[in-house]
Amino acid sequence: MNNSISLEPTTLVIFGAGGDLTQRKLLPALYNLYLDHWLPESFAIVGIDLKTMTDDDFRQHIRQGLDEFSRRTPIKDEEWQAFAPHLQFMSGDFNDSATYTTLNTQLAAIEKEWNQKANRIFYLAIAPSLIGTVAQHLGQTKLARDRDHARLVVEKPFGHDLESAKALNHLLTRIFAESQIFRIDHYLGKETVQNMLAFRFANALLEPIWDRRYIDHVQITVAEQVGVEHRGGYYEHAGALRDMVQNHLLQLLCLMAMEPPVSFNADEIRNKKVDVLHAIRPIASEHVHDNAVRGQYNAGWLEGERVIAYANEPNVAPDSNTETFAALKLFVENWRWHGVPFYLRTGKRLAAKTSQVSIVLRPVPHQAFPATAVEHWQPNRIVVHIQPEEGIAVRLQAKRPGPTVRLSPVDMHFLYSEAFKTPSPEAYETLLLDVIEGDATLFMRADQVEAAWSLIMPVLDVWQANPSSSFPNYAAGTWGPESAEVLIARDGRSWLA
Ligand code: BG6
Repeated sequence: MNNSISLEPTTLVIFGAGGDLTQRKLLPALYNLYLDHWLPESFAIVGIDLKTMTDDDFRQHIRQGLDEFSRRTPIKDEEWQAFAPHLQFMSGDFNDSATYTTLNTQLAAIEKEWNQKANRIFYLAIAPSLIGTVAQHLGQTKLARDRDHARLVVEKPFGHDLESAKALNHLLTRIFAESQIFRIDHYLGKETVQNMLAFRFANALLEPIWDRRYIDHVQITVAEQVGVEHRGGYYEHAGALRDMVQNHLLQLLCLMAMEPPVSFNADEIRNKKVDVLHAIRPIASEHVHDNAVRGQYNAGWLEGERVIAYANEPNVAPDSNTETFAALKLFVENWRWHGVPFYLRTGKRLAAKTSQVSIVLRPVPHQAFPATAVEHWQPNRIVVHIQPEEGIAVRLQAKRPGPTVRLSPVDMHFLYSEAFKTPSPEAYETLLLDVIEGDATLFMRADQVEAAWSLIMPVLDVWQANPSSSFPNYAAGTWGPESAEVLIARDGRSWLA
């Protein structure tokens, strides 16, 4: 969310530096920021992990990651040589207070060399079970004390349910001020997600139609083709509702439904978003069956390849009750949205990879055209394409060329790749830069996280208490279980993607 940048000296400490996230996402993002001259002149990255590595081993490991995962390959040796000295490695046990004492000394040495006090960012790229331990040690060694310079970045999942999220918030806010805590939801860093704010609030055209009078319903789809990959161990305890709906999909809903902010201030935007979460009518336990659908993928075909069932994936129980698909029907009970359904769905091993928000408008109040003209008539819709296509399409009706009046739907497209010739930054580039700048707009505040958990808890509880008898209930390569079609068809509507 940066418009300008002040380059204060910064040290980024990554706990879990030997892991996947660091190699695939964090360092490629930091490297791009470096190449684009967004990083401060005085900048250091200190990786900490239990593994034993020298600085050179660590650099080599990161270089391999860049070669494989950077959006800017091939990596130029000259640029890499200039970047590599900014990387240091420290081997340490997160449970041992000596690790933090050594870290303190190392950070002090870096700042001594720079002859300046630096921002210290502690990035927890670690298992959720370790977050509390690391935070407590940072507190004990006074590494968190300087409220203006110390920041903590926490990855999702933030808690496992409402209770654990509250406990984690309680623990963290005893050590850090809320303004020092950056809870990541990487969807908020995506260009097209941020563009929803620009699209809605920088265009006078939309606001007059953005409510229940003109909008019939909203669909939010985040579909993946990948399966659970190597994350069976984590996913078995998560499932689609926790992994995607609690965070990414609800955040998209908030951006779509929020009231116009008074200013572009982090708390103002977050206040408006949390208002949406508070306005959503929780699904009562007895209504879960009618308003929530779960699925688990079976074996199937995806792009010509045979793929296995979820229950046969590594580290997954053969009789697993974990959902890999979830769909919800929600209502935002406020003046603007009363009576407008929001249909959300997400799943793994679906037919296509696509994330989109579709806003379907009400039909025109009176059809003046003869029946033959409107055979293909469809209501207007606005589709915000988040990925892989990035852009916005507006569906209108047009007269087909010819002597008779016949209407056909046509799309007006805005495509990022056509309108702007520069490639979009990765979500982590935007988010890391925001942390360096101390801008929390795109991060989750404690109350947002808790409000999102509160909303999905009744569904989680009912699902846990009543294991599905129909799993697996969709073949890989399809659009999910039939019950998801029924959820929306019951209202006389259908999924659009
Ligand atoms: C993560 C989930 O938060 O988002 C993954 O844990 C999911 O399960 C991923 O695959 C999807 O992110 P993206 O950016 O690929 O849409």
